Amino acid sequence: MLRRGFAASPRIHANKPIGVAAALQAAKENSTGPVQPQLYDGFSLAGRVGVVSGGNRGLGLEMALTLAEAGAKVYALDLPTTPGEEFRAVQKYIERFDTGAKLEYVGGGVDVTDQKQVWDAVAEIGNKEQRMDIGIAAAGILHGAPGLQYPADEFQKVMSVNVNGVLHIAQAVGQQMERFKTAGSLILIASMSGSITNKDHAWVAYNTSKSAVLQMARSLACELGPQAIRVNSISPGHIYTSMTAAYLDTQPELYQKWAGLNPLGRLGRPDELRGVVAWLASDMSTFCTGSDILVSGGHHAW
Ligand SMILES: NC(=O)c1ccc[n+]([C@@H]2O[C@H](COP(=O)([O-])OP(=O)(O)OC[C@H]3O[C@@H](n4cnc5c(N)ncnc54)[C@H](O)[C@@H]3O)[C@@H](O)[C@H]2O)c1
Repeated sequence: MLRRGFAASPRIHANKPIGVAAALQAAKENSTGPVQPQLYDGFSLAGRVGVVSGGNRGLGLEMALTLAEAGAKVYALDLPTTPGEEFRAVQKYIERFDTGAKLEYVGGGVDVTDQKQVWDAVAEIGNKEQRMDIGIAAAGILHGAPGLQYPADEFQKVMSVNVNGVLHIAQAVGQQMERFKTAGSLILIASMSGSITNKDHAWVAYNTSKSAVLQMARSLACELGPQAIRVNSISPGHIYTSMTAAYLDTQPELYQKWAGLNPLGRLGRPDELRGVVAWLASDMSTFCTGSDILVSGGHHAW
C-alpha cells in the first residue's frame, strides 16, 4: 500500500524497463541496431542532493567526492568554521566536472552533537535546493581508555558524537526527505568495531558506539521503509586517515600488526569505499535497507 504519496518503485523503474525487462521489451518491439548498456546509468545521482557529516576530510570527504562524481550536489558539514586545504582542492576539482555537480561547505561549522544546529542547517539546504536525496553520517571520533576506569565524561563524549550525532544527521536529512517525499538513502558510517573488538585496543566506548550505529540503521530502516527511505550502514575496517594516523604515526609497528589482521594483508584506502557508497546512494541498491556492509579486507572473517 502506498503511504503519503511516496512512489512505490524507484524513479529509474518508473521511466523505462531495465535489465532483462529491457531485453524482453526490445524483443517484443523487434528493435534492431546498437543497444546502449544501462548498468552505469543506474549509479547516476544527477540532480540529486546529498549531505555528508564529517565531510571536511578523511572518509567523509572521499564519500562527498563520490556523490559529486555521480552527479550530485553535495553539502558537507563539519566542525571547523572554514574548510581545510584538501576540501578546497576537492571542491575545485568538482567545479571542473561541468556536470552540475558541486560541493559546498556549510560555513561557520556544524557540531553534530547539537540537534537543533544540525536540523536547522539541513533544513536550510532543503529550502535552497527544494529536495533531499542522500545523507551520509560520517562524523566520528575515536578515543581509548581502560574499560574498568573509562571516565564517564569521556565515554559520554564518544557517544555524543558517534551515536547522538549520527542520529541527528539521519533525523535532519530524513525530515527533508519526508518533506519533499523523496525515496532517499541514508548511509550511517559504523565500523567493523561495531561487530568485532579490535585486538589489543581498549576502545570500549568507540566499539559500543559503533554497535549502536548498526542497530540505529536497522531500527530506522524499519520505521522509514514505508516512506521508501532506505537506511543502511557501512562498516569499514582499518583505513589510513587522520583518525587512525593518531595511532599509526605514533606507533609505526601498528601498520604491520593491523595489516596482518586481515586476509588481504594490508590497510584499506579511503577510495576503496567509493563503490559501496555509490551503490548505496543510488538506484542500484533500491531493495537494500537495514543492512550493514562490511568493507574490511576480510578482517571480520577471521
Ligand atoms: N579510518 C578508519 O579506519 C575507520 C574505520 C571504521 C570506521 N571509521 C569511521 O569513519 C568515520 C570517518 O572517520 P575518518 O577515519 O575519516 O576520521 P577523521 O577524523 O579523518 O574524520 C572525522 C571527521 O568528523 C568530524 N567531526 C568530529 N566530531 C564532530 C562533531 N562533533 N561535529 C561535526 N563533525 C565532527 C571531524 O572534524 C573530521 O572531519 C568515523 O565515523 C569513523 O569512526 C573509520
